[in-house]
Amino acid sequence: MALSDKEKALMPQHIAIIMDGNGRWAKKRGLPRTAGHKAGGETFRTIANYCRSIGVKYLSVYAFSTENWKRSQEEIGALMILLERYLAEGLRDMEKNKVCFRFFGDLSRLNPRLRKLCLQAQERSADYHEVQVNFCLNYGGRDEIVRAAKAFAADVAAGKRSADSLTEAEFENYLDSAGVPDPELVIRPSGEQRLSNFLPWQSAYSEFVFMDVLWPDFGPEDLDKAIEEYFRRNRRFGGV
Ligand code: IPE
Ligand code: IPE
Ligand code: MG
Repeated sequence: MALSDKEKALMPQHIAIIMDGNGRWAKKRGLPRTAGHKAGGETFRTIANYCRSIGVKYLSVYAFSTENWKRSQEEIGALMILLERYLAEGLRDMEKNKVCFRFFGDLSRLNPRLRKLCLQAQERSADYHEVQVNFCLNYGGRDEIVRAAKAFAADVAAGKRSADSLTEAEFENYLDSAGVPDPELVIRPSGEQRLSNFLPWQSAYSEFVFMDVLWPDFGPEDLDKAIEEYFRRNRRFGGV
């Protein structure tokens, strides 16, 4: 994408994407839903590389929600296998790609093999600072806030913190996203216009772009369109 100097200065440093529409993409082709997830995984690779090439520092992706356990065992199992493959590949290519991996969500409910891969990827990539991918995995925004509240309460009970002096900035340190700036832009493909429990705290002042394309069909040109739309927005943050 060709950017003016003004646009370069305004480029979002953090983009968050709800990777939605895999199932409908597969259905349209008469394929099983899992084929849609596989295609969606390829799209993720393409978009992550593209984000890096245009200078986006943080990319957060919604990969599996706390509500997605309602799906069939077959679909969940296939998703977990795709995630394991992706992470095993990420670990293998870590030194070449130098991407920092972070995981938002409650990893304790994942199968031990996947959980181990997540923790390894997070630990082994912690020193890469150029680009960061935040995988939201067994993630729910409400669950994140409740876990943060519990961790804060435990610190209060241990005498490490005082409840009276809690600030928004201090509370953010208890969220999964601690240390990560809020996304300026949240994109949801697939035509649905809702957040589905994705980063509710962090997106309080984000710009939202909803798009009609299904995630497996989403390409760099769609990301450009979303960013162009973002450039046209007037962000006021409550001011005038
Ligand atoms: C998003 O695609 C992927 C996950 C939720 C894991 P969907 O599977 O929700 O696709 P649709 O919305 O049914 O088309
Ligand atoms: C949100 O999509 C979760 C992910 C993309 C991982 P869903 O497909 O689960 O959301 P709803 O059910 O349409 O709200
Ligand atoms: Mg969906």
